[in-house]
Amino acid sequence: MKYSKYSVIIIGSGIAGLYAALKLSETINLIDGILVITKSELAESNSRYAQGGIVGVLKQNENDSVELHVKDTLKAGAGLCEFDTVKFISENSQNIIYDLINYGVEFDRDENNKLKLTMEGAHSIKRILHSGGDATGYNIEKVLVKKVIENPNIQIYEKTFACELLLNKNNVCRGIITYNEELNEYETIYAASTILATGGCGQVYKYTTNPEVATGDGFALAYKANAIMQDMEFIQFHPTALKLPNCENMFLISEAVRGEGAKLVDIDGNAFMKKYDDRLELAPRDVVTRAIFNEMHKLKYNCMYLDASMIKKDVFKSRFPNIYKMCKENNIDISKDYIPIAPAAHYTMGGIKTTIEGQTSIKNLYAIGEVASTGLHGANRLASNSLLECAICASELANYLSFANLQSSDIIDETILDTIKKYDDDHNTHSCENDYDTDPIILKHKLKNIMWEYVGILRDKNNLEIALEKIQDIEKSYNNKYKCASINHYELRNLILVAKMIILSALKRKESRGAHFRIDYPSPLNLARHNTINMEDIINYEQTYINIK
Ligand code: FAD
Ligand code: SIN
Repeated sequence: MKYSKYSVIIIGSGIAGLYAALKLSETINLIDGILVITKSELAESNSRYAQGGIVGVLKQNENDSVELHVKDTLKAGAGLCEFDTVKFISENSQNIIYDLINYGVEFDRDENNKLKLTMEGAHSIKRILHSGGDATGYNIEKVLVKKVIENPNIQIYEKTFACELLLNKNNVCRGIITYNEELNEYETIYAASTILATGGCGQVYKYTTNPEVATGDGFALAYKANAIMQDMEFIQFHPTALKLPNCENMFLISEAVRGEGAKLVDIDGNAFMKKYDDRLELAPRDVVTRAIFNEMHKLKYNCMYLDASMIKKDVFKSRFPNIYKMCKENNIDISKDYIPIAPAAHYTMGGIKTTIEGQTSIKNLYAIGEVASTGLHGANRLASNSLLECAICASELANYLSFANLQSSDIIDETILDTIKKYDDDHNTHSCENDYDTDPIILKHKLKNIMWEYVGILRDKNNLEIALEKIQDIEKSYNNKYKCASINHYELRNLILVAKMIILSALKRKESRGAHFRIDYPSPLNLARHNTINMEDIINYEQTYINIK
């Protein structure tokens, strides 16, 4: 086993992780340095695929104001947003946008060099900045990756998987254990502060817009450390992912396409949103998703369609170059063909409960970006608020840590040593021997199917309980808590935990609110409350459930 020590470790290289690394390196002179670890290549992340854009409440936009953006966010969030958090994020949006521009991010501009703004669902006006048309995430990530690589104070480990947080007997976080599959090498990394920037868990569902790395590892790491988790039942299903045959990781057709005028239609071209909401195609995401899902089921089709033929072909091509290319490659001529679409798991509103600067319930453990639940999104995230939250919370955390003691302690207690031993070959050669009898790919697929079928867009007690039993069966065939045989095994272990967190939180919430719709409780309760859970709650809940059965 290798050992090393840093002032700060950042797990994840999406916009939250990379921006935090840069801000930290500018804010403080860290004695033991900053380490960014990431399980794939540096640029691979949900961030990279963000299309629509990033919210900016800009002075140039006379019609916009913090009040208006706050109002839209609160309304979309269905009563569950934290007002102070929403206001803070909104107030700081202009500064962050200009900071990104100073770093070199080129947002699209009009002929007068003014930043172009677009419209997305549930925004009352145009306030979304974009880059390269529909390549906003790619272009921001590219700039941040370059700056991080060039920064001599930031170390990078690619292809390195965070397996376990190191906690001492007082439950203070002291770093992590990582695994590099290519080198087959474990490493114990001590750090004064550990930051989870591991993104969401779209891969827990069969159909998702998220890339393969989004297996919810950060949620599982925090859960195993007994951190408080919040609102895990709120999964956002994006209404319009491109429906291609046999494709489960789905390409997104940005909401901005509807923002520019495209209509949702059935196979015969009948627009149907008027039956569901006065805001039609630009209603909040949960409303549009349920409308599409309902039409699909009513008509027994596996997709609905987006009619973008009213947008001139050359306008579409320059405004959405990647979507245009993807459609063309699949023989869809956007000027006359309808684009087949269906909902897919897209974003995790809940997560590790944090303050705006990323403090979790565990000392010296921080979480930022999609893995964190700051209360900004409530029960349903307003489009393009996520990239903004990633950058603002990363910056706030860097600022907060500039006042913290970032000297890594040299005291290694028995609790830490016990954890290390479980991964150390010298002590524990056989802990993953049984793993070789388990095919993690098959079990992952099984799990994703169960989550899609029973814990998807519409839920009820019966289906949630069926899902829980089925996930428990998978857990019986794979229940390795420590050293696993491969990254796929680790991800399976984590997906099982994430699935249970979602199911049990969904069972606990006996109402319909935002993205969480219970057929057996179709109305919202009068009082909106957060659902917080930790590992002990889940163990107790499962035990009670097993006893009742
Ligand atoms: P990510 O960008 O997901 O990064 C997580 C990182 O953690 C990755 O590098 C991953 O490899 C790493 N990681 C995970 N687990 C481990 C582990 N165990 N060990 C080591 N590394 C690990 N939001 C908007 O605001 N506007 C948009 O237009 C928009 N469009 C989107 C389009 C798509 C297709 C998708 C999928 C999302 C979109 N979103 C959008 C949401 C937004 O992109 C994400 O919420 C945001 O980028 C999350 O950033 P992050 O830094 O928190 O995590
Ligand atoms: C999109 O472009 O539709 C995605 C925007 C988001 O998820 O915020």
